[in-house]
Amino acid sequence: MLGKLSHFLYPLLGLIAVILVVHGQDQTGFINIDCGLPPNSSYNEQTTGLFYISDATVVDTGESKLLLEQDRGLNPQYVWYLRYFPEGKRNCYTINVTSGTKYLIRATFLYGDYDGQNKASEFDLHLGSNLWDTVYSNNTIKEIIHVPLQSYIQVCLVNTGSGTPFISAIELRPLNNTLYPTQMGP
Ligand SMILES: *[C@@H]1O[C@H](CO)[C@@H](O)[C@H](O)[C@H]1NC(C)=O
Ligand SMILES: *[C@@H]1O[C@H](CO)[C@@H](O)[C@H](O)[C@H]1NC(C)=O
Ligand SMILES: *[C@@H]1O[C@H](CO)[C@@H](O)[C@H](O)[C@H]1NC(C)=O
Ligand SMILES: *[C@@H]1O[C@H](CO)[C@@H](O)[C@H](O)[C@H]1NC(C)=O
Repeated sequence: MLGKLSHFLYPLLGLIAVILVVHGQDQTGFINIDCGLPPNSSYNEQTTGLFYISDATVVDTGESKLLLEQDRGLNPQYVWYLRYFPEGKRNCYTINVTSGTKYLIRATFLYGDYDGQNKASEFDLHLGSNLWDTVYSNNTIKEIIHVPLQSYIQVCLVNTGSGTPFISAIELRPLNNTLYPTQMGP
């Protein structure tokens, strides 16, 4: 009986602890962008309470897509929408930041068969003019630590001829604060 109960109880306590940590923390400087979310939309993500906004003000190109309910799975809300870039070799997000501050930048790619082709794509991810990584886009997360020297950063998706680039979410955390590993949420 106790064994069964703790199976249920410990994860629950863990979840409560995470929620308390997130809700009790200072979210100043956090930037959470839900790519493809309709313009002027925002929400607090259910598990973490973190605030996500649409990418409409930080990108001029691409098309928005909402995953089918069956393809969202148990994934957090910020991957339900994505933005894909059927046109142009290089498409960029321009995101305002505080120059001189160290940031953890996280980009999330959840394919979710959004195009009905059941074929994830491969493309390059750039930070400004530098190659950050190559993305094989079936459920991938890329993270980088960066100190911007300007008051904005550019996150760019570059089509390398292996399918249409897309992106689900971009999250930024200023790292001067020591608690940063818990600030990313799940
Ligand atoms: C978004 O909100 C702004 C300011 O409230 C408004 O001017 C704009 O038309 C809205 N855009 C859309 C697409 O709803
Ligand atoms: C980013 O900063 C520039 C310069 O201060 C400003 O013109 C622009 O509106 C800002 N963009 C957003 C999305 O806040
Ligand atoms: C982070 O530290 C740098 C260098 O000490 C400082 O210039 C910057 O303002 C700090 N940023 C934040 C968000 O505290
Ligand atoms: C993507 O990954 C999921 C699970 O990891 C797998 O079931 C699916 O077949 C993959 N799809 C493609 C197109 O690679």
